[in-house]
Amino acid sequence: MSKRIQIPRIAVIGLGLIGCSWIKALRVRGCVDEVRGYDRNLDSMQLALSEGLIDSYSEDIGAVVQNADLVIVSVPIMAMRPVLESIRAHIAEHTVITDVGSVKGSVATDVAAVFGKGFPRFVLGHPIAGSERSGVMAADENLYVRHKVIITPEPHTSKEALALVRDAWTAVGADLEHMSVSHHDEVLAATSHLPHLLAYSLVDTLANSHENKEIFNYAAGGFRDFTRIAASSPVMWRDIFGANKDQILKTLDLFSHDLAFLRAAIEQGDSTFVMGVLTRAKSARDHFSKILARRAYVEPMKTASISYIANPGKALSGSFRVPGDKSISHRSIMLGSLANGTTEVTGFLEGEDSLATLQAFRDMGVVIEGPHRGRVTIHGVGLHGLQAPPNALYLGNSGTSMRLLAGLMAGQAFDVEMTGDESLSKRPMGRVADPLALMGAIVDTAEAGRPPIKVKGGSPLKGIHYDLPMASAQVKSCVLLAGLYAEGETSVTEPAPTRDHTERMLRGFGYDVTVEGNKVTLRSGGELTATEIDVPSDISSAAFFMVGASIMPGSDITLEHVGINPTRIGVINILRAMGGNIDVLNEREVGGEPVADIRIRSAQLKGIHIPEDQVPLAIDEFPAIFIAAACAEGETILTGAEELRVKESDRIQAMVDGMVTLGVNAVGTEDGAVIHGFGAEGSFGGGEIDSQHDHRIAMSFAMASLRASAPVVIRDCANVATSFPGFVELASDCGVNLQVESGDE
Ligand code: S3P
Repeated sequence: MSKRIQIPRIAVIGLGLIGCSWIKALRVRGCVDEVRGYDRNLDSMQLALSEGLIDSYSEDIGAVVQNADLVIVSVPIMAMRPVLESIRAHIAEHTVITDVGSVKGSVATDVAAVFGKGFPRFVLGHPIAGSERSGVMAADENLYVRHKVIITPEPHTSKEALALVRDAWTAVGADLEHMSVSHHDEVLAATSHLPHLLAYSLVDTLANSHENKEIFNYAAGGFRDFTRIAASSPVMWRDIFGANKDQILKTLDLFSHDLAFLRAAIEQGDSTFVMGVLTRAKSARDHFSKILARRAYVEPMKTASISYIANPGKALSGSFRVPGDKSISHRSIMLGSLANGTTEVTGFLEGEDSLATLQAFRDMGVVIEGPHRGRVTIHGVGLHGLQAPPNALYLGNSGTSMRLLAGLMAGQAFDVEMTGDESLSKRPMGRVADPLALMGAIVDTAEAGRPPIKVKGGSPLKGIHYDLPMASAQVKSCVLLAGLYAEGETSVTEPAPTRDHTERMLRGFGYDVTVEGNKVTLRSGGELTATEIDVPSDISSAAFFMVGASIMPGSDITLEHVGINPTRIGVINILRAMGGNIDVLNEREVGGEPVADIRIRSAQLKGIHIPEDQVPLAIDEFPAIFIAAACAEGETILTGAEELRVKESDRIQAMVDGMVTLGVNAVGTEDGAVIHGFGAEGSFGGGEIDSQHDHRIAMSFAMASLRASAPVVIRDCANVATSFPGFVELASDCGVNLQVESGDE
């Protein structure tokens, strides 16, 4: 929020775009009483006066700064020292001076040289705004609105001086950020100075070539976009290149090094290398565009807060496909990356979780094309071809990425750190760190076994037999994936069947895996051979529509191409046991996974005691099943589901709290819940639901709204994008009445 301030007297030295825009912005907002101006050019001073930007000017710089409360020095970097020298004798005891230069180190040196080391009333600043236009007439009072201004205070900068400059920026709508002088110069060398240098250089090269007329005649989008900034002020940029020489040369050398590799790859026809550069750059640029769309650069990622306003809906109808299976999508990237050859994936889930896995492998040097409409091409590097990532792997909200990767990373020669968002940072990782330690891996977690996880590279692993203490496909997969790198045989027994996508897909890649009863075994020493993967629709995403259609009278929908792996169909079994009307049609096998179309018609459900053997088979679907239970006749009891308490949220608590808000008689127990259904005549009430940032809680209550008597407001739904991009559109198309409200957090 901009703050109302009143500065009696400002002197502005240098009447260019940046200084004039700041002054104009302060004036139109009524924040300054008097502005005096100075410029080397008499014309500029006259123009600024006639435009009403300044109240007076003088060719005597000393007279201009006399008694000013704030002096804004907005001159090219190399003019800084002479300007400071000429004002030194004229500034008052209270005068605060600030600048707007793109390099801070050289200005700090100039200030110390002129005013002495430790001068407290100079505040170094740099607005990240501007345009290739310059001069008085380009002044824009809104230039700084929602733009970053970086302030680089030094230890000796006085608090009062800093406060005045900060206020003068926030008053014109700028967002302030503090940085050290050296960090500023390093960041700006990369984000601003190098791009300008390249733009100038490219235009110069092309303009000098004898076909330049041709080039400029036909240079449309690409040339224009890339070189727009070469129309900026040459003097200003000459000065910046000189003043930030060391940092600019450092980034330029890095760039030249990488460019030489790209050149060689083009020369040698190494299209995989070229694709690697292009796909990594595209994904990085797409990521930045989201940031750029909001404001200027140097923007930290902000989470948008999204709420659903769900009004009572109508009967669901239609035949449609929900997005690809999340578990299979994760595994397709992991195994495709470790295979020899090129793996083609179709139906890939373009949700944030599986994209986090994809990005992690890009960070480890794998060339991955796409995703484009669910199509991904992975240029596998073989089991031993991953490279150390430049930074920690950021896995967002995705527990599957972190737990499965922990196993794979244990087998690598390099160290890796894995981090995640707030929810992931609270989830238990001891369950994977423990068996990995038994295999000889060195795995560190934060307190109480939480992320970040640090895996030390190069520790030799030995095969183990592991009895899973809980029914978890993630832990099973983690151990098996580590087993690919462990000496001898690795086996896992599970207390109850859990999803077996890892085992199936390993076989699909030609790796030998033995399953005997509840025991899975593999040996190291094999290799993965690239294959094609057709990812079926995710039964966990289909589950919301199965429940929606079941509870909403008159509904009749068909969900196409849904994965019906026997380890995932608990939701169908449970809804059928409750009286659901579900037909599994057109069963077929696609790439080692069973698939079918599922028709759901509404039915009056009845409460049941959910068989415990179904719990691992429906582990992700309970939030939706709870909604079905609320609409059933009689009592539904869930037991043996304590794992629900350590999912993206405590799903027992989150669902029970939400249902109680909507008037349902439900209580949570340690390992489940008891839900008294309101039956055929009843409905949910309206109310506000806290989804706990958990995608499945949000989507479950969206379905509940179908049978609500008043609007249901569901808070914090942004994470629906982790597993179900396009949920709102799809749900709305088939009869759910959903509106989205968004804002910044
Ligand atoms: C998953 C396994 C399950 C599930 C998760 C995905 C997987 O977790 O809840 O959404 O892809 O292996 P647990 O193995 O922790 O039960």
